[in-house]
Amino acid sequence: MIERFRIFPEQASTLAPQTDALLFFLLAVTTFFVVLIAGTIIVFMIRYRRRDPDEIPESGAHGSLALEIAWTLPPLVIVMVIFFWGASLFATIQRPPDDAINIDVVGKQWMWKLQHMEGRREINELHIPVGKPVKLTMTSEDVIHSFFVPAFRTKQDVVPGRYSTTWFTPTKPGKYHLFCAEYCGTNHSAMIGWVYVMEPSEYQNWLSGGAAEGSLAENGKKLFEQLACNNCHKEDNTGRGPNLVGVFGKQVQLAGGGTVKADEAYVRESILQPQAKVVSGFEPVMPTFQGLVSEDQVLQLIEYVKSLGPKPAAGAVETGTTPAARTQSGTTPAKR
Ligand code: CUA
Repeated sequence: MIERFRIFPEQASTLAPQTDALLFFLLAVTTFFVVLIAGTIIVFMIRYRRRDPDEIPESGAHGSLALEIAWTLPPLVIVMVIFFWGASLFATIQRPPDDAINIDVVGKQWMWKLQHMEGRREINELHIPVGKPVKLTMTSEDVIHSFFVPAFRTKQDVVPGRYSTTWFTPTKPGKYHLFCAEYCGTNHSAMIGWVYVMEPSEYQNWLSGGAAEGSLAENGKKLFEQLACNNCHKEDNTGRGPNLVGVFGKQVQLAGGGTVKADEAYVRESILQPQAKVVSGFEPVMPTFQGLVSEDQVLQLIEYVKSLGPKPAAGAVETGTTPAARTQSGTTPAKR
């Protein structure tokens, strides 16, 4: 019974106690000042009320430096504590650890689609191991959703056209609510699911249940071939598009100057809006794949591109020198 009526959800991630500590601090500070200010008003109202129609206050207000300092300095200190505490917690929440397991999330009206790197896919359910940091790379196929797991104190908007990330380390095996926390249409309230936190060995068993589907990178490779991406993106640098081996995570030289980091967002943009940032040394000839690939498939393609680096394939020229090498071999770089 108590379980059902608890005011605070269970603390089931490493972030939960930290978030709660800050929340309780804010609650304590605000409660203290509400009681102090409201209490003083009430006491003064009664104690110093006008008892007689002829009771007139002495004219002229008098200042007090001590009082001015007393109500300026302590509040300054308190808001600074709140600022630095909040900022450091925010930074923690924004920076997934490097060893986190990556899981892709696609929100759509009205369901959550999740894909594990090893290939298992699920809908409105997320299976994860206890004690391991998990990073979610999320996007939406339609409108803004928000991925909310109260027990983890995790809530992150999932926005169409871009990737947002969040992360958490679950601390307790169990089953936890997953909600959409952004009004996204008629069935917003039905866009719910469960997060299953499992013992690592159980999780491994569960993961291997999806082995037949192939890993995300393998599916991405198949798609890469089906869509004939490999006709232009050749690993021997003879293609009309850049060789993608070892590109992921590196800085890419752009036609018309400037560089961009080849991260998830850049690869996604290159698939859907290929003309937006053309790699230096190449013609803007790539067609868009907007409408031809779903967000889940874009994520698979990204995993494939990730899996291509940083190991150099046989005969591949180092990424940074590719355009130069092409220029020397007689190919005219794109004029922009
Ligand atoms: Cu999706 Cu609300």
